[in-house]
Amino acid sequence: MAFVTLKELLTDAQRKRYAIGAFNTNNMEIVQAIVEAAVEERAPVILQASQGALRYAGIDYIMGLVRAAEKSADIPIVMHLDHGTDFNQVMLCLRKGFTSVMFDGSKKPLEENIAATRKVVEVAHAMGVSVEAELGKIGGTEDDVTVSEHEASLTIPAEAERFCAETKVDALAVAIGTAHGAYKGEPKLDFARLREIRKLVDTPLVLHGASGVPEEAVKRSIDYGICKVNIDTNIRQAFTKGVKEFIMENPSVFDPRKILGPAKEAMKEIIRAKIRLFGSNNKC
Ligand code: G3H
Ligand code: ZN
Repeated sequence: MAFVTLKELLTDAQRKRYAIGAFNTNNMEIVQAIVEAAVEERAPVILQASQGALRYAGIDYIMGLVRAAEKSADIPIVMHLDHGTDFNQVMLCLRKGFTSVMFDGSKKPLEENIAATRKVVEVAHAMGVSVEAELGKIGGTEDDVTVSEHEASLTIPAEAERFCAETKVDALAVAIGTAHGAYKGEPKLDFARLREIRKLVDTPLVLHGASGVPEEAVKRSIDYGICKVNIDTNIRQAFTKGVKEFIMENPSVFDPRKILGPAKEAMKEIIRAKIRLFGSNNKC
């Protein structure tokens, strides 16, 4: 179908109370797994690349893969930069055709985060591109961005209200107790905080670090206003498990296509399950 902006997808999701899956990609098999899963579920989808993904694959390779997928798929697709921390790189993504960018100024003091995010919004909106920002500090590691347990801090609702009013972002990533990467124990989400933020802010809210969050907690967070859910770790785990299992069972096979095929299927399966959990299936 066509590339669409994050704003377009989240407006419908917010109105109808479901969430769009935002899945991290680094290579061809992951792009294919995400798009095939979304097509099979009839779900609008967000493909996102982190700074680490762009460094690993190269922005032109990533964009080339995503363009090829978009041509072959009859669903709305957003191409999004995940956790961009560098203004110039965000500008490069705009030039390369991303339809959405995240500017992550969460490590900056509030005033500086507002000023830097506003600058990105000004340029991106002039080009018809959506912007996601982050307030509070989500713990754990997402490629280039690491926040220690001690550094992590939850989003303050009154600050979220001011941040959204002053920056005019299209989506806000909130820190409500999730963390990037594999969880050691079960995460405890601060739903009261999420509800308070929702009361003060109309901007669509984003849940990061959602791999490993219990299904009930994900559903509840969507009920309370989350409309974009980010998944990376679960895809990496499915890929690695698929490759390991295949090699263990077929030690003499050395054809990469045979090794990566089952890994792609394993990723598709987990992505389809997430799409159904978020309620974005049968929406296009
Ligand atoms: O920005 C990406 C996500 O927040 C992914 O988090 O690796 O815990 O699924 P995750
Ligand atoms: Zn994240």
